Amino acid sequence: MSDTVNNKAEKASAASARRRVLSGMRPTGKLHLGNYVGALQNWVGLQNEYECFFFVADWHALTTDYADPSAVKTNSIEVATDWLAAGLDPERCVLFVQSHVPQHAELHLLFSMITPLGWLERVPSYKEQQVQLAEKSLGTYGFLGYPLLQAADILMYLADFVPVGQDQVAHVELTREVARRFNQFYWAPGKTRSGRVLRGPDVPEAKRVYVFPEPQPLLTPAAKLPGTDGRKMSKSYGNFINLSDPEPVVRQKLKTMVTDPARVRRNDPGEPDVCPVGDLHKIFSNQQTLAKVYEGCRTAGIGCIECKGWVADNVMAVLAPIQERRRPFEQNPKLAWDVLEAGSARARIVAQQTIEQAREAMNMSHLYQPPGGSK
Ligand code: TRP
Ligand code: SF4
Repeated sequence: MSDTVNNKAEKASAASARRRVLSGMRPTGKLHLGNYVGALQNWVGLQNEYECFFFVADWHALTTDYADPSAVKTNSIEVATDWLAAGLDPERCVLFVQSHVPQHAELHLLFSMITPLGWLERVPSYKEQQVQLAEKSLGTYGFLGYPLLQAADILMYLADFVPVGQDQVAHVELTREVARRFNQFYWAPGKTRSGRVLRGPDVPEAKRVYVFPEPQPLLTPAAKLPGTDGRKMSKSYGNFINLSDPEPVVRQKLKTMVTDPARVRRNDPGEPDVCPVGDLHKIFSNQQTLAKVYEGCRTAGIGCIECKGWVADNVMAVLAPIQERRRPFEQNPKLAWDVLEAGSARARIVAQQTIEQAREAMNMSHLYQPPGGSK
């Protein structure tokens, strides 16, 4: 009686017992170092431990960019290309596109029926973003409802954990409230011991089978990654270093990065703790280099050019393997496309199961059956 049989069984049960993670990214095009340090790097680690679903939130892009959706497809493929380059492995996680799993739209609609408007109006990003993106006229129904679309994204896969940054925690909290509210109104039919099916409000609490678990946020440790102008690295500020930037471009961008403003001349001492380049060293450099930076900067023993050269070396040490893996995908965009198509097919299977459970709990399954038939 072989170990292999036991091992196989153990592995299979361990695999099915893995908790589920879901997260999404908007299709912003080529990803930058801030996206990597703030999210993607974390995702790559999670795929070993959890059953992961990662998706391109292309419908979410429409909530702010409805006026011109022409870039959505190219941007989606670029995002997926960088995912694969960073090491997300389609053998270990499901990579898909939201719009290719139309079940998200149905679940969003069902949730919209039970979600009080006040819950959405109270989400902090709603008013903030309307002010920040005033030129985009975000007084739309789609923009108000986008955290609910996000709730549908998450609950569709019955996710246990949602890796997100601090800015998205309120959306996960809303998701938990929506799950709770759905579960208050509806539950899957339970069965008595004799097999009789129980439905409706008279089913005792203990016999109710709820469709949706309440997911937890997995807070991505906030490494504050400054861009070349010292503000948070962001596509809209134009201060980013892309994962795909060739080495000379990376070095050039870092060379012109802002530094401690007190260090005007080579002989002026500086302070790495108030210098954006110092922040980059904290993320990319080892203790030894960091010690040299503190000592050299504070005593004016090193120049900023030298200091930036070291950080460029260490950034490139992270980017080189990513760019190596990226090559086949950038030469042939169909490769990333095929990964997304295959992943979307897998996602649809899970999504359809959830939709059917939700319909069943709402006692709506019969809408899909011919009239008069016995159930
Ligand atoms: N709203 C997220 C963002 O702007 C993207 C997103 C959409 C998401 N659906 C999600 C993240 C579900 C986590 C889970 O970044
Ligand atoms: Fe910043 Fe380095 Fe210059 Fe100090 S030496 S001010 S840490 S770039």
